[in-house]
Amino acid sequence: MCADRLQLCDLGKLKQKKQPIVMVTAYDYPTGRLADEAGVDCVLVGDSLSNVVLGYPDTVPVTMDEMLHHVKAVTRAVRRAVVIADMPFLSFQVSPERAIENAGRFLKEGLAQAVKVEGGGHLVPTVASMVRAGIPTVGHLGLTPQTASLLGGYHVQGKTGRAAHAILEDAWHLEQAGISLLVLECVPDRLAARIAKELTIPVIGIGAGAGCDGQVLVFHDLLGITFGFAPKFLKVFADAGETMRKGLSDYARQVRERTFPAVENSFSISDEEWQRLEGSTRKERE
Ligand code: KIV
Repeated sequence: MCADRLQLCDLGKLKQKKQPIVMVTAYDYPTGRLADEAGVDCVLVGDSLSNVVLGYPDTVPVTMDEMLHHVKAVTRAVRRAVVIADMPFLSFQVSPERAIENAGRFLKEGLAQAVKVEGGGHLVPTVASMVRAGIPTVGHLGLTPQTASLLGGYHVQGKTGRAAHAILEDAWHLEQAGISLLVLECVPDRLAARIAKELTIPVIGIGAGAGCDGQVLVFHDLLGITFGFAPKFLKVFADAGETMRKGLSDYARQVRERTFPAVENSFSISDEEWQRLEGSTRKERE
């Protein structure tokens, strides 16, 4: 293990020191390495793998096996950041036993340091069981994409006093159940700031304003590798998507024009050896 490897508890120390925590998603060896080498504190192998990388319509279809395959690739890449594995839909909702078994696979086989589960309310006892079993667990409240259809779509949550209170209560209960970190997605900034203030554990926001203890964005979104996805909370920090598109079309054009590969991209054989080949007939070679 790398000497300066961060642990989940180090993220709590960053909160205490009022230092913003940087989290980003990653899904494979290159994205894990790029994120780690950029110095982020935490890498989330999100179940957004489902739609962002595997092309499913949303986060519901992705399976435990698909997630595990990608968690392993990311943990092989990341040396310093904390790696969190997202538990896919129905891998933790059925029973606390199933939740513990599946989370255990992410820790034992995937080598992740923690797992993340979406939801509060009736899931709080499951989370408490996971923590009792020794599984470092991260919560996720607000817009929970796995149950977006029940929420009426991908909308900001907690916009009424009552709804905001329900999220605040869930956050308290999850903290009492022992979560180490909370992700808040698409909630009003004042609500997120209040939750971050009231909880001891770090609160990481996505579409939750500047009052959180840290921020998370999806790797492909912040680098512009998207196909028309442009929510209000997103900022594109580098248009890598455009650079990739240009690179790929330049490649295609140069192959078609026969300007690639050029001499400098090709390997040579000495004249002497070439003469030997020139002199040989097919029959001799057989
Ligand atoms: O799966 C994911 O990418 C997430 C983040 C948006 C927090 O859960």
